[in-house]
Order: sequence, then structure tokens, then C-alpha cells
Amino acid sequence: MTKQPVDYQTIKKHILQALSLATDTRAAMDLVVAELEDHKPHYDWVGIYFLESDTLVLGPYRGEPSPHTRIPVGEGICGAAAAAMETVVVSEVNADPRYLACSIKTRSEIVVPIINGTMCLGEIDIDSHSPDAFTDRDRELLEDIALALVSRLNPKREPTETNNK
Ligand code: SME
Repeated sequence: MTKQPVDYQTIKKHILQALSLATDTRAAMDLVVAELEDHKPHYDWVGIYFLESDTLVLGPYRGEPSPHTRIPVGEGICGAAAAAMETVVVSEVNADPRYLACSIKTRSEIVVPIINGTMCLGEIDIDSHSPDAFTDRDRELLEDIALALVSRLNPKREPTETNNK
């Protein structure tokens, strides 16, 4: 299916609005992955990993199945971003010794951790078939979405509904 490109401002607005309406965590994660993959032509693989103890566990994703469904913190580009709790952008994955291959077609990658204060809860991982595909606009968009996902993944999140009247 041909992707329908959407500009950065519009896709951010759309995703943040939809996130505020999503009924549960899984629905919220699915929505983010689907919207990004559908509307950004250079996003060829989009996934969310959740941090469980010291391992990143693959959640919803769009693209070819990845062999890396569990990645220890500190391994690969994903593990490096989780360990540093900072966005990692790799313009040519074949030149990065940390890279764990998902597809032979992948040329560049961006990994954006989902951080709650001092705790990494997971991350957004995106691969592109084009080298040097990710700019500051991608980083800004994905960091804003990661921030909006924190409340969805926070283990201490308060129940959204109370019925104590
Ligand atoms: N390339 C990642 C592994 C995940 S796949 O891209 C889906 C890494 O180096 O950590």
C-alpha cells in the first residue's frame, strides 16, 4: 500500500490527540506505531520496546519480523539508547559496530527512549532503508511522542477512573 505522507506538525497533533483518547495502553502503542509507519515514507520499520528488568522486550511493531525480540540493556543500538537514556541516531548502520541487524535493507536508525524522570520505561525504534534518513525534525517528533507515552507506561500510574461516590 502506498503511504500517504503527512507533515511533522500534523502527524504530531494527530498522534497526541489520539493518544489522549486511546482507551488502553496496548491501543495507545498500536496507534503510535501504525500512524508513524503509515504516514512517514522513510520509516520502514517502526516498533516499541518495553523495558522489563534489564531487557528490552519488543511490543507492537510494523515492518518485517525482527529476530531481536529481546535485547539486553547495553547491547545493540537499542540497548545503547536505553543505557544512556538518550536518543541515538545512526546515519549508516553498517558502519556502527553496535548495530544488531533486523533487515539487510536497513541503512539508518533512530532510537528514542521513553523516560520517566530517571527511569527508562521503553523506547521507540525506527529503521529506514535510506542512509542518513533521520533529521532533527524526526528526533523532535519522536521525543515529543515518547514524552506523551510516559503516562501510559508509568507503573505508578493512578487509575484513570474512580467510582467512589
Ligand atoms: N537494530 C537494533 C535492533 C532492533 S531491530 O532494528 C528491529 C539494534 O541495533 O539494537
